[in-house]
Amino acid sequence: MKAPKLSIILPAYNEAKNIPLIVGKIAEAMGDVAHEVIVVDDDSPDGTSGVAREIGLRDPVVRCIRRVNRRGLSGACIEGMMAAQAPIVAVMDADMQHDETRLPVMLAEIEGGADLVIGSRYLDGGDASGGFHENTRARGSELATALANRITGAYTTDPMSGFFMMTRDLADKAATTVSRDGFKILFDIVSRYGSELTIREVPFRFRERVEGESKLGFLVTVQFLGLLVSRYTGGLIPVKFLLYGLVGFSGLFVHMATLLALNGFFGVGFAAAQVLATFAAMTTNFAFNNEVTYAHRKLTGRRFLTGLLTFYAVCGIGALANVSIAVRLFEWDWSAGVAGFAGAVMSAVFNYAVTKLVTWRD
Ligand code: GDD
Ligand code: MN
Repeated sequence: MKAPKLSIILPAYNEAKNIPLIVGKIAEAMGDVAHEVIVVDDDSPDGTSGVAREIGLRDPVVRCIRRVNRRGLSGACIEGMMAAQAPIVAVMDADMQHDETRLPVMLAEIEGGADLVIGSRYLDGGDASGGFHENTRARGSELATALANRITGAYTTDPMSGFFMMTRDLADKAATTVSRDGFKILFDIVSRYGSELTIREVPFRFRERVEGESKLGFLVTVQFLGLLVSRYTGGLIPVKFLLYGLVGFSGLFVHMATLLALNGFFGVGFAAAQVLATFAAMTTNFAFNNEVTYAHRKLTGRRFLTGLLTFYAVCGIGALANVSIAVRLFEWDWSAGVAGFAGAVMSAVFNYAVTKLVTWRD
C-alpha cells in the first residue's frame, strides 16, 4: 500500500447498507490517488463496524474505529481526524448524500495552498434540495446559516456543511480545541479559525438519502443553538453549561406545577408538597440533562439509577451551600433579591461542575 495522500473520514451511525456503496464510490472517484478511508462508528446496533471491518480485510485502504459508550457526530469526526495518517484530511457523510466526485477537486484546492475547502450546497452550481423533504428543514437550514454567519463572520456560504477538507495542521489544531458534543464541527472550526485561514469553496449537489435515516433531530437543533451562543461569547460560556441552565429553568416549571397540584389540588401539606416538588424537579432535571446536555455519554440501565442518586446528593449539597451563602450575604446587608440570586447562581455553578465530574464522568 502506498503512503496515503488523503485521509477520508466517514462518521457513521447505522449505515451498514451505505458503507459498501460509499467506499466503492470513493475508490472510483479517487482513481490512483493514494488514500485511506476511516469509518468512525459509534457501536451502531445495525453492525456498521462489522461491515467496515469486513471490507478492510479485503481492501486495507479501509479502516474502522469503533467507539463504545459515546455518541456524537463531532466527537466521531475528531477521533477520525486524530487517527488520520495523511497530510490532508477530508470529512464526509457515510450515507451517500455527499458527492465523492468532488474530492479530487477539493484536493487540488488544498494542494494549491488552501487550508480549508468547503463543499457548499449554496454556492452557484451547488444544490441543497436533496436534504429537505419538508419546507421546515429548508427554512431551518437557511435561518441557521444566516445566524451563524452573523455571529462568526461570513467566511463561507455553507457553514453547516458536513463535507470539507483541510490540511493536517488545521486538523490537528481543530481536533484539540473544538467541541466534541455537537453536530456542526465545521461551524465550530470556522468560527474559531476563519480569520486566519485561506478558505476555498467547491459547489456540490446534496443527494437524497436512499438507505437508512437522518440523525438530525430536535436535540441536534437545541445543541446547535447552545453552540451558537457559546461561540458568540468567544467560548467563555461552555455549551454544556448553557444546556444545563436551560434544563434547570425547565425544572422551575416542573417544581411549581407539582407543588401547586399536590398542595392546591390534592390537599397535601405545604412542607411535604415542597419536598416532593423538589424531588420531581431534580428527577426531570436529571433525565433531561442525561438526554440533552450529556447525550453523547448518556447513562442507561443501572448507571442511570446510580447517576440519579449522585445527582440528588450533589443538588442537596448545592442547596445547602446556596442557603448558607445567601443568608451570609443578607446579613452583610445585601438586599434579599440580590443575596438570593447570588446564592442560586453559586449553587447552579457548583451543581454543574460537580455533577459533570461525578454523575456524567467520562
Ligand atoms: N459515529 C457517528 N456518531 N456518526 C454519526 C452520528 C453519531 O452520533 N450521528 C450522525 N452520524 C453520521 C451519519 O451516519 C452520517 O454518515 C453523517 O454522520 C451525517 O448524519 P445524517 O444523520 O445523515 O445527517 P443529515 O444528512 O441530516 O445532515 C447532514 O447535512 C447537514 C446539513 O443540512 C450532515 O452532513 C450535517 O453535518 C450537515 O450539517
Ligand atoms: Mn445524511
